[in-house]
Amino acid sequence: MTKSYLDAAIEIAQDAGKVLIEEMTRPLDLHYKGDEVDLVTQADKRSEKLIVERLTKYFPDHAIAAEEGTGHESASEFRWHVDPLDGTTNFAHGYPCFCVSIALAQRNALLAAVVFNPVHNELFTAARGEGAALNGKKIYVSSNATLSTSLLCTGFPVHNRKGNPNLQYYGDFTQQSHGVRRDGSAALDLASVAVGRFDGFWEFGLQKWDTAAGVLLIEEAGGRVSDFAGNPYQLGGPVILATNGLIHEEMRAMALEISRRTSSAPPHSPAKR
Ligand code: IPD
Ligand code: CA
Ligand code: CA
Repeated sequence: MTKSYLDAAIEIAQDAGKVLIEEMTRPLDLHYKGDEVDLVTQADKRSEKLIVERLTKYFPDHAIAAEEGTGHESASEFRWHVDPLDGTTNFAHGYPCFCVSIALAQRNALLAAVVFNPVHNELFTAARGEGAALNGKKIYVSSNATLSTSLLCTGFPVHNRKGNPNLQYYGDFTQQSHGVRRDGSAALDLASVAVGRFDGFWEFGLQKWDTAAGVLLIEEAGGRVSDFAGNPYQLGGPVILATNGLIHEEMRAMALEISRRTSSAPPHSPAKR
């Protein structure tokens, strides 16, 4: 049952990826959602159109939550979380670090996940209880057990930039590790934890479509995902901490220490968009 959902998501993500590659060679059709930082391109819209139409054709009863707003509600307990182009700012500047992210949840349980990087032709997949894979080969989180020898990643959402406490965390984690990358695609960042390229990732204010696929990838690859308090991460929660499991408590302790020290850090306040 789950397998056919995953197969559908793979087919659709790969076709959406072709749209993104095609759009890279065309003149940029750029618009702003609100202020001059939250970008949306023709590529986001075309990719979402393809994904929503195809999911609706295959699973007409299912609900679809898609970033650009063309999904639909339904009475079904199945819900697809769709980010048609994760890394829009990168895409708009020709920086080739972006992906398509599609995940299926039944009530609150993630069942299937696909993150597809069409530039490198990397297809990350996971199905609940069946493990995670990159281009069909099983993947696992890293075995690095100390923060000081870890490579980390984070991100800075475009909305509510002034209210985001992350600069302090970025600086402190940079000093305590091999470094903190900021690649600009949360779904790819999470997939990179699942495949062991990064040992840990955190970010404030991510949306469900940013994290749904990546969370299942990490869980199925043997990692751990929580909030800073150590509670299981809820999709759309104010902060996500995703690691190989081994450095989780060390990162969590440091994050709590930073939040205690910095008066401006509200790690448990809800994300606004
Ligand atoms: C963004 C990227 C980025 C993250 C932002 C997201 P988008 O998604 O994942 O890495 O820092 O919070 O909004 O807008 O490119 O789909
Ligand atoms: Ca996104
Ligand atoms: Ca997006």
